[in-house]
Amino acid sequence: MTVLVRLGVGPLSAVARAAIPSIWRGKYFSSGNEPAENNPVTPMLRHLMYKIKSTGPITVAEYMKEVLTNPAKGYYVYRDMLGEQGDFITSPEISQIFGELLGIWFISEWMATGKSTAFQLVELGPGRGTLVGDILRVFTQLGSVLKNCDISVHLVEVSQKLSEIQALTLTEEKVPLERNAGSPVYMKGVTKSGIPISWYRHLHDVPKGYSFYLAHEFFDVLPVHKFQKTAQGWREVFIDIDPQVSDKLRFVLAPSATPAEAFIQHDETRDHVEVCPDAGVIIEELSQRIALTGGAALVADYGHDGTKTDTFRGFCGHKLHDVLIAPGTADLTADVDFSYLRRMAQGKVASLGPIKQHIFLKNMGIDVRLKVLLDKSNEPSVRQQLLQGYDMLMNPKKMGERFNFFALLPHERLQGGRHQRNARQSKPFASLVAGFSELAWQ
Ligand SMILES: C[S@@+](CC[C@H](N)C(=O)[O-])C[C@H]1O[C@@H](n2cnc3c(N)ncnc32)[C@H](O)[C@@H]1O
Repeated sequence: MTVLVRLGVGPLSAVARAAIPSIWRGKYFSSGNEPAENNPVTPMLRHLMYKIKSTGPITVAEYMKEVLTNPAKGYYVYRDMLGEQGDFITSPEISQIFGELLGIWFISEWMATGKSTAFQLVELGPGRGTLVGDILRVFTQLGSVLKNCDISVHLVEVSQKLSEIQALTLTEEKVPLERNAGSPVYMKGVTKSGIPISWYRHLHDVPKGYSFYLAHEFFDVLPVHKFQKTAQGWREVFIDIDPQVSDKLRFVLAPSATPAEAFIQHDETRDHVEVCPDAGVIIEELSQRIALTGGAALVADYGHDGTKTDTFRGFCGHKLHDVLIAPGTADLTADVDFSYLRRMAQGKVASLGPIKQHIFLKNMGIDVRLKVLLDKSNEPSVRQQLLQGYDMLMNPKKMGERFNFFALLPHERLQGGRHQRNARQSKPFASLVAGFSELAWQ
C-alpha cells in the first residue's frame, strides 16, 4: 500500500471531470426494431443504400465497420463523442481514480516481472487521451521507482478528431508534433512529462518489444457478425433496404450458410450468437507479442463469458438509439465475448478474468485512494464529484458489475519465472497479479 499513500502527497489531487450523466454504454439492449418516425437520410445512409443496391445486403459486421470507421464518413473519425456533451461517458472520463489504479497495475506488473530497463505503454482506442494521461501522471508521481526505465507511449487510433484531442491533452504541443498522414506512424511528439509518444492506425505497426497493452472500451466497437439458429442450420443476419419504406434499412436472414459461421463453436447451445473475428485477430497478435517479448495486456469492457445472445445496440446523446436509424450519427457497440478472447489466447499466453470491475478496483485499493483525495479536498463540489464517480464505477447496479477486467500474461508470470519467486513465496503466482487478487508490493 506504500505506493498508494505516496500518491496522495505532492501536486496530485482531484482533477476536474465532467458532470456524470446517468447512462453508460454497457447499459441497455436494442434490437433495431423500433419504428422509424425520425429517420433522417444521413450521408452514411445514402452511402450504405448505394452499396446495398450495387452489391446486395451487407453483414452486420460490414455495417458496423462502415458506420463507425469509414475513413470519409465514419462516426468515430471526425467527432468527439465522449463526455457530457457527447453520446456516452466512460470510466476514465468519470473519475481520475480509474486511470490512477490502472497506472499502479502496470507498475506492479513491471515490478513483478523484474523491472525491465524499458517498456512501451500501448493503448488501443484511447478516446480523449484521459486514461493514458491519468496513468502517466502516476508514472511521474512514482518517478523514483521508474527512474531507470525508458518509457514510450504508443496510441492505436483510427479517429483523426480524437487523435488531435489526445495530442492536445497529452503533449500540450509544447514540442511541435511531427505529422505524416501517409506513414504507419501518422503522428509523433513528446508528452508533457517528456515521454516520446506516437500514433498508429493498426496494432501491427506498433514496434515489437517489451510492452504493456491497454484496451478500455475498445473491443466492444469492433464489428460483430450476428447469427440465428434455424431449422436449416445457422443463418447470418444481414442488412438490406426495406422494400416497404423508402430510405429505411431492415434486418434479413441469409438464405444459405456464410463464411463467418466458422467462428461459431460446434457445441454452441444458444439460438442467437454474435462473433467478432477482428477481436480474435487482435488477441492473437497481442498474445504472440507478449509470448515473444514479455509484458502484459489489460482489457476492460462490458461483456459476458459466452452466454449472451443479442447485444448489438446504439447510443446517441446518452440515450439508446435504434442501430438502423440515421447511421453515422450514433455509436454502435456489442458486448465483448470474453470466452472467445480466452480461446484465442490459449496455448500462447495465460489469461486471467474476466472479473467484475468493482472487485478489480477494490483489489487495486480504490477505497484508500478515494480517502486520500477526500482528505485533501475541502471543496464540497469536488468531494461530491469524487463520491459520485466512485459510486458510478463501483456500484454493482451501475458500472461495477457490467464492466469486467481481463488480462493476458506470459505463462512464466503465473508459473513463477526466474524474476518472480523468492524463498518466502509459496502461493501460486496467479494470486499475486494485482487486481485479480489484492494489490501487494513485492
Ligand atoms: C468507445 S471509445 C473508448 C475510448 C476510451 N478508451 C475511453 O474509455 O474513454 C472507442 C475508441 O476506439 C477508437 N477506435 C474505434 N475503432 C477502432 C479501430 N478499429 N482501431 C483503432 N481505434 C479504434 C475510437 O476512435 C475511440 O478512441
